Amino acid sequence: MKIRIFENKEELNAAFTDWLKEILVGKETLTLALSGGSTPKSLFDYWAENPEKDIDWKKIKFFWGDERCVPPTDEQSNYKMTKEHFFDRIPVPESNIFRIYGENPPEEEANRYAEVLKTELRSENGIPSFDVLMLGMGDDGHTASIFPQEIELWNSPKLCVVGTHPETGQKRVSLSGRAINAARNVAFLVTGENKAQKVSEIISHPAEAEKKYPAALVQPDSGDLIWFVDKAAASLLSQ
Ligand code: 6PG
Repeated sequence: MKIRIFENKEELNAAFTDWLKEILVGKETLTLALSGGSTPKSLFDYWAENPEKDIDWKKIKFFWGDERCVPPTDEQSNYKMTKEHFFDRIPVPESNIFRIYGENPPEEEANRYAEVLKTELRSENGIPSFDVLMLGMGDDGHTASIFPQEIELWNSPKLCVVGTHPETGQKRVSLSGRAINAARNVAFLVTGENKAQKVSEIISHPAEAEKKYPAALVQPDSGDLIWFVDKAAASLLSQ
């Protein structure tokens, strides 16, 4: 596991983009699963405002690690957020965007999306494998939409599961641990003081953290896990 600590979001976004560009070298296409929530907003803005970062976006197929079970027009939709901050500003072929249909019945959509992954992704040991998977982390230690109070979802034999937000009860379609740990390159993007406690626990005491926090269970079979964190989120890490 690698950890890279940045002064601020701008530096983190630039470094993450260079890391992605590096992985893209020599590839005809790259499958990328996006995280949702607020952290990626500034990354998508960075991409839209720096088109010259010479990423050939047409090479990238876009997926999501999770989606709220709401219509794509809903303020809560990760797809809507990505469309506003990125797709509406950078030309990406519609055929390269594989959104999770938040408007569908959750269990049905989890099964449908799993089939999409089986069709669109190459497999690693029989499991569909993203080239790059972006993840966020909640201040409760959740990742994608697997929350601590239902951490057993992580071990589902399915590729996609239905999570429930602990406060709102909102249903969400999420990749399972099986799909997450099959990804070739996994990157956490975590910023803000409110994440510092969990970052410190997960990095410094992984064995304990694994029992409580889904984010601590992200241990890709490839071994390629990198944390992109800002100083605020890293503030409780011992040197
Ligand atoms: C979502 C996400 C979720 C997110 C974390 C962090 O749909 O909300 O995918 O896993 O990454 O909750 O969210 P913030 O970036 O808003 O802190």
